[in-house]
Amino acid sequence: MSSQGKPGKDAGSVACYARERPRTPIRRRHAGSWRIEVMHGVNLDQLGRRDPLLYGTLTLVQLEREIEEHASALDLATSFFHSNHEGAFVERLHGLGDAADAIILNPGSWTHYAWAIRDALEIAALPAIEVHLSDVEHREPWRRVSVIRDLCFATISGLGPDGYRDALARLREELDRGGS
Ligand code: DQA
Repeated sequence: MSSQGKPGKDAGSVACYARERPRTPIRRRHAGSWRIEVMHGVNLDQLGRRDPLLYGTLTLVQLEREIEEHASALDLATSFFHSNHEGAFVERLHGLGDAADAIILNPGSWTHYAWAIRDALEIAALPAIEVHLSDVEHREPWRRVSVIRDLCFATISGLGPDGYRDALARLREELDRGGS
């Protein structure tokens, strides 16, 4: 474990980038900074109590603060959402409308089976990146399944909190490339 409470090499750090997924059209909805919605799903409010070798020691509040700092360094505006209730997560996706230009999402274990979240993400029709703190590709086989992956232009897993910094940088690139 590093001094910043991030999963280290022992946790099997790996980044999985998929570049060839279909791109969601990018539409600037307002003047000013791009707006990124950062969504955390079930059990992620328990960070700080979960296995530190897998998830680090930051609480969700601390993680969100870190994400916000990285985002403002990239001139990105962030909003944050967490729920342990699948319906609330789905309704947040429904309501994003013009409130965000792109999404970073870590749905926790819903990633692996929650088809309703996949459908809601498709309805949101925003560029999205899937992030996992732990290396889901090298844990239990059921964690290798992601029902949202094909709707996300990249997946980043196993980098701990740094994965969100990478996701923000990739989103900035993607939005600048596609936006006018
Ligand atoms: C997680 C990985 C999921 O498999 C797990 O159920 C989580 C967290 C991650 O960030 O590593 O709750 O999404």
